[in-house]
Amino acid sequence: MIVRTPDELRLMRKAGEITKNALNLAKSLIKPNISTLELDKKIKEYIISCGATPSFLNYEGYPGSICASPNDMVVHGIPSDKVILKEGDIISIDVGAIYQGYNGDAARTYPVGKISEEKARLIKVTEECFFEGIKHLKVGAKLGELSNAIQTHAENNGYSVVRELVGHGIGRKMHEWPNVPNYGKKSDGPTMVEGICLAIEPMINMGKKGIYLLDDGWGVITQDGKPSAHYENTVILTLTGVEILTL
Ligand code: MF3
Ligand code: CO
Repeated sequence: MIVRTPDELRLMRKAGEITKNALNLAKSLIKPNISTLELDKKIKEYIISCGATPSFLNYEGYPGSICASPNDMVVHGIPSDKVILKEGDIISIDVGAIYQGYNGDAARTYPVGKISEEKARLIKVTEECFFEGIKHLKVGAKLGELSNAIQTHAENNGYSVVRELVGHGIGRKMHEWPNVPNYGKKSDGPTMVEGICLAIEPMINMGKKGIYLLDDGWGVITQDGKPSAHYENTVILTLTGVEILTL
């Protein structure tokens, strides 16, 4: 685990703020008939206008600046002019920005117009999973306590946790050690120390946990075709608690 200096944490906060603003821009643009490629273009422009770089663009060959994953897509939806949002959809938007060498990473699932009660509940519980998790993120605690709390909250609500994709340490690279699973035993994982930065990101399926990969090599879809939601923030662990940089 990398412990950040105060100067590094200042840059992490700035990267987080740009990432948060980019997500809020996405939220303001989401409406029926907009394509996910249009969202991508606007968010890319915004991040660049802040003097930052979209971290996803060209990451292992990824072609977008955001991931835009509707309904039964879990994550990593490639923005496309053929994916047009419609009333009743849910859409997960994941954004990352690098500012002076430091990364912010965050995701939300948004409603498109009016959505069903059951989709609204999935979005709400996925967000709650994050907040239940960080109650257990403390100096001296095992990371598994956070992971276990996320899994417990999702499963108590009748949902399931995606296993193949996890949160991560974050800093000069988007993905750093340790992995931050959304499931597992309380005793799992490393012991938390002051000054680390993590991206915590529950990916919660309404139905079963199984997923598959699209032929494009990126898009992750639920096997049972039921909706999935995503909620991610970049955080700093301090002695006094958790500072959320992308909220
Ligand atoms: N935000 C994602 C994560 O937390 C990364 C998106 S994958 C990319 O791992 F290729 F788009 F960058
Ligand atoms: Co992430």
